[in-house]
Amino acid sequence: MEEGNTILECLNRIKWEQDGTLAFRKNCRNTICGSCAMRINGRSALACKENVGNELAQIPEHHRPEIPEITIAPLGNLPVIKDLVVDMRSFWDNLEAVEPYVSTAGRTIPEREFLQSPQERSRLDQNGNCIMCGACYSECNAREVDPTFVGPHALAKAQRLVADSRDTAIESRLENYNQGTKGVWGCTRCLMCNAVCPMDVAPMDQIGKIKQEILTRKDKQASRSIRHRKVLIDLVKQGGWVDERKFGIQVVANFFRDIKGMLSLSPLGLRMLARGKFPLGFDASEDTAQVRSLIESVQTLKSETPEEEILPKS
Ligand code: SF4
Ligand code: SF4
Ligand code: FES
Repeated sequence: MEEGNTILECLNRIKWEQDGTLAFRKNCRNTICGSCAMRINGRSALACKENVGNELAQIPEHHRPEIPEITIAPLGNLPVIKDLVVDMRSFWDNLEAVEPYVSTAGRTIPEREFLQSPQERSRLDQNGNCIMCGACYSECNAREVDPTFVGPHALAKAQRLVADSRDTAIESRLENYNQGTKGVWGCTRCLMCNAVCPMDVAPMDQIGKIKQEILTRKDKQASRSIRHRKVLIDLVKQGGWVDERKFGIQVVANFFRDIKGMLSLSPLGLRMLARGKFPLGFDASEDTAQVRSLIESVQTLKSETPEEEILPKS
């Protein structure tokens, strides 16, 4: 093979000249259909996009053997059917779970066509680039440990609907994406989906936008995840850093309202007390005023600036 050959061309050559039983998916050969995602040298990518030269360039020259090897493996987080072909049912089921269509009312044909301003349409550009290849899903750490988490591809699509000016179901959508760790709060912000996405959809950033939308609309009582974010900011504003005692009581025990949550904290609290690690006092940080003014500036800036100016599309 030449350095300019794609990984897909290598696989085709193996299949056509050496082993006709090798199974892998492909279609467009041009980074459009999303069929050929697989793990190449340990990271999920499109076989028709990556080439031999780039893969070899990652092996330091003095370590490069005479005949270098490129390792190919099936996508992660999905059961293997044969060789590089994986069963993508959970991927599609999870996409379905976020209701990935403009709402029924929004789809009712009006007397005249739907009009969107260029600005409204441009909000959909980045997410609209998704080709459903599964690379992000394959690398998602949250998905690996939490089978209920719908995955980055589904939530990037969810944000595309939340941002769509034609959609009329934003409240029920946010309710759906706000549930436990199934939706946006399941993401551990490991950045892997952003790192591997071949279309620069940046799913983690899209998840962040849904979280922001939820946090703007809901108060602390709505769920533990919401309390977690809001209390964290409140406490940092108060003391410059987090007072762990208040954090547990306000988030887990829901300001003494959640008896079960409070009881769940007791074993940890007692262990900390026994080992002298329970802080009896809390000294605010010297620079609390600066920290507070920084947070307030960012909050003011966010409330006054259109979303696209805060988070420029890549
Ligand atoms: S978000 Fe990116 S990596 Fe994930 S399915 Fe879409 S194109 Fe593939
Ligand atoms: S950032 Fe979130 S959604 Fe993306 S791979 Fe990590 S855990 Fe999964
Ligand atoms: S074959 Fe279509 S994206 Fe690679």
